[in-house]
Amino acid sequence: MCGIVGFTGSANAVPKIVKGLKVLEYRGYDSVGLAAQLNGEIKTLKCKGRVDALRDKLEQEHFPATDCAIGHTRWATHGGPSDINAHPHSTDTLALVHNGIIENYRELKAQLLEKGVKFVSETDSEVAAWVITEEYKAQKDPIKAIYSSLKKLSGSYAFEILFKDRPGEIFAVRQGSPLILATGVDGGYIASDMTALLPFTDTFCFLREGALAHVTKDSVQIVKEDGTLEEPVWQKTDMTVEAAEKCGYPHFMLKEIHEQPNAFLKTVSPRIKNGLPDFSGDGVSDDLLRRAKKIYIVACGSAMHAGLCGKYLIEHWAKIPVTVEIASEFRYNDPLIDSDTLMIIVSQSGETADSLAALRYGKEHGAFTMGIINVVGSSIAREADATLYTYAGPEIAVATTKGYCVQVAAFMLIAAKLSALCGTLSENEVRTLCSELCRDVPKAIEETFSLHDEIKEIAKKLYQSENLFYIGRGIDYALGVEGSLKLKEISYIHSEAYAAGELKHGTISLITEGTPVIAVATSARLYDKTVSNIRECSSRGANVLFICYNDAHQPENVADTVLRLPKVGRHAEMLAAMTAMQLIAYEVAVLRGCDIDRPRNLAKSVTVE
Ligand code: G6P
Repeated sequence: MCGIVGFTGSANAVPKIVKGLKVLEYRGYDSVGLAAQLNGEIKTLKCKGRVDALRDKLEQEHFPATDCAIGHTRWATHGGPSDINAHPHSTDTLALVHNGIIENYRELKAQLLEKGVKFVSETDSEVAAWVITEEYKAQKDPIKAIYSSLKKLSGSYAFEILFKDRPGEIFAVRQGSPLILATGVDGGYIASDMTALLPFTDTFCFLREGALAHVTKDSVQIVKEDGTLEEPVWQKTDMTVEAAEKCGYPHFMLKEIHEQPNAFLKTVSPRIKNGLPDFSGDGVSDDLLRRAKKIYIVACGSAMHAGLCGKYLIEHWAKIPVTVEIASEFRYNDPLIDSDTLMIIVSQSGETADSLAALRYGKEHGAFTMGIINVVGSSIAREADATLYTYAGPEIAVATTKGYCVQVAAFMLIAAKLSALCGTLSENEVRTLCSELCRDVPKAIEETFSLHDEIKEIAKKLYQSENLFYIGRGIDYALGVEGSLKLKEISYIHSEAYAAGELKHGTISLITEGTPVIAVATSARLYDKTVSNIRECSSRGANVLFICYNDAHQPENVADTVLRLPKVGRHAEMLAAMTAMQLIAYEVAVLRGCDIDRPRNLAKSVTVE
């Protein structure tokens, strides 16, 4: 949610900022801008639109080279997308970029208006810029001014600030929104996400909550409120620039779908030791897991949908009751937490504001908290009692695919582990399960890629639809919910997922001649029941695509189109079915000419509540 990047050093900062912003576009892409230090002045250029629009403007205006600049790509919260609301926001003293929300900006704005401040934008960020300006004028010291301003601001923020009279220096501070520091051969960097800095360096420091960074061309310092320095903790990453590039695929989404088999294996195999799931490397002791009498899975969006699969897997194998909660609702639903509660927070980015708030609530109320997180060092990963990292690598497409896949992978492991600890499966059964997961799931996803041409034909039948329904039972319903979200978010076709047996309780009134329905059955267990529900739809005119397990009994007799999943072992069908649904959504969106990696109105990392 909003990408920010800054550089100060011995090279021209402008191309670095543009490059960094381009990578960060997935965090928001409705307006963009940069501010540069130039001969004791700050020059700002910003516009509605994407990084390419800024690049064109920079060229048209022959924007001069500078050794110090900050940039921003925005996902609008306060104030619609426009040139004026684009960041950076400037005062007579400074320029600032902001990721997050200042919750008390109205009161602060009223006070500043009384003092005669003239605002040009509708944003909360401009208010923060003026609060810091007023403090700077009073205190004449940027670090003191920023720290005292923070006492007035409530909400979440990551700021990068240039002061007019401090050439070559970037000040940055965070609370609730991430910031990553880095040093390269030619200077210091600071960005909201490591991927923006991968082209320049492989050594990073995650700025801790509430900390202030002072970046100059010679040093990257963390300065405490009393003016003393804190030693940055530097870490090397093995993430490569290619991980954040398309590598010949037309879209990141397609590349990431194809990365799923490997991501699954990378997540699962290191955690299987002597044939059994082992989380000792993740700091999750068996004793802690044994204590879990009930489990809350809390997350947003697709991560929550992965949690729905987690519920089925854990309840089916380990027989522990699981409640899946939408993170934005969790705190307000009076959850029943005690010290026997295991709370699993699922988040690709590890920064989603509602998930983070839910985690903090769970901790305060005594739950043992465990993150399933993809981004190393992210806020949720750092605050949870333990974290199972998923090893999907950077996910750039806004619509998650491999991120979801590895979350389901983590739940497969957790369910296997819990069933071993609870004795609901014998040690031998768990061993077999683990070896099947490693052997079959990546293969099943791989083999689903060979259905791509068939899926392209299916997409031709679907892409002009206005409404579409996904139906399934049990885990197939959970899969349908995610399949439906994929289609909605990238193709803008309205779709809904229903538990197949529930459709007749109202929604079936929407099924008319030709209404497309995608039915999913990944196992024999509920096949006949799902078939009955398909018949209820087709007898009312629905056009049914049936995604079913390979040995399904005569699906051709029930549906207009059948997509048989590859013949693989048990437990592998679910991610094969999901891959098929991801490819369907992708191909439909291609035919509709949609902006697949950057769907309208969305952002990948949602750091506001
Ligand atoms: C955003 C993204 C979704 C994602 C959700 C949760 O809404 O567009 O794709 O599922 O946030 O993100 P997280 O990083 O917490 O998994």
